[in-house]
Amino acid sequence: MNYIGEDEVIVVRDRKNTINVLVNSCSHRGNTVCRAELGTTNSFLCSYHGWNFNLDGTLLAAPGEEAFYRGELNKSDWGLMRAAKVESYRGFVFATMDANAPALADYLGWVGRLGIDFIASRGEVEFLDGVHKNRIKCNWKIAVDNLYDWYHVKVSHGTAMRVGFVSEEAMAPMSQMVLLGEYGHGIGGPGISEAELAAFDARMANGGDGDAQWFDLFASRRVDPKVRAELGPVGTRSFGHPNIFPNLWVSITQQVCLRIPRGPFETELWWFNYLIKDAPESQRRQAIFAQNHVFGPAGLLEQDDGENWSHSTRGARGPIGRMRPLNLSMGRGRDQVSADPSGQSRIETVVNEHGQRWTYQSWQEWMLADSWQELIASHSQPPTGVV
Ligand code: FES
Ligand SMILES: [Fe+2]
Repeated sequence: MNYIGEDEVIVVRDRKNTINVLVNSCSHRGNTVCRAELGTTNSFLCSYHGWNFNLDGTLLAAPGEEAFYRGELNKSDWGLMRAAKVESYRGFVFATMDANAPALADYLGWVGRLGIDFIASRGEVEFLDGVHKNRIKCNWKIAVDNLYDWYHVKVSHGTAMRVGFVSEEAMAPMSQMVLLGEYGHGIGGPGISEAELAAFDARMANGGDGDAQWFDLFASRRVDPKVRAELGPVGTRSFGHPNIFPNLWVSITQQVCLRIPRGPFETELWWFNYLIKDAPESQRRQAIFAQNHVFGPAGLLEQDDGENWSHSTRGARGPIGRMRPLNLSMGRGRDQVSADPSGQSRIETVVNEHGQRWTYQSWQEWMLADSWQELIASHSQPPTGVV
């Protein structure tokens, strides 16, 4: 079970191994036909009046077809609604309700694909059963804004630093790299030099550095020629946070997080956790610790962030407060997009708000377009030159 916007969808493999994305709404009275987060089933039996749907969404049977419907129920007209397109990239399944949406690879572009390549390049991964879920009383966009925000760290997470939960070195790097992609995708955060990568690799060769061993392992993989070829010369040096527009965050904590809007003033966060299959047990345990304690319902950092997101939403929603444009000026007009022969253009700079401006600009373009055709024709290309 998952969501596309405010619609619940069921993502299910049928007996032919095809992945179906079905709207979780019975065609009789709209009841949800699947209540499970995950699992296996032979069919979806509606709990209200018993209509029974196949794994591909077709209606198999309805009680009283002869006696009550007098043989006039045309079952082929009453299957579950299906997503218009379902495609996957490196095992991640995406669906859209609009047949006119671009092909997935075109939609993701190199920045969106790179965000997923970051996960795939860590080796074979296994996603763990269960989803950590929490609700925050904030607009979903402030949660997206925050993943590009390396300005808040020393203030919002000051306590976590002071008690030694996270290190200032890891949390507040000065050298930043921002990659901006079509349709609003972006990656923002630390940009690591080749010399620093080599240093992480050397440290890992000596067993890694205590609590930061997981990061040494992560960074040292980027020295592997196969991983370098996969990520490209610029992607190899990016340790930023990818956002697959609009609301899928690829977190460095071996998690991906969907930010699902529950109206304008509340967001539900769904945290999916994965482990690297061939990682030693100690590193698997470190990953599980991070998955439980950094973000998510019990996450120390997310409690810091969530409190500020909800109060940012609360403070800016009043009739007077909402009239004033907020300040999104950091670094504007002061940085340069550097091209690369590989096509991986990037901005290398200090802490900035390029990712946030790109997100809000893209969101506005999405909101103003009436259709995918219009958005395809009218959306901004990623910036070049001075930004
Ligand atoms: S609502 Fe599903 S069978 Fe009636
Ligand atoms: Fe934060």
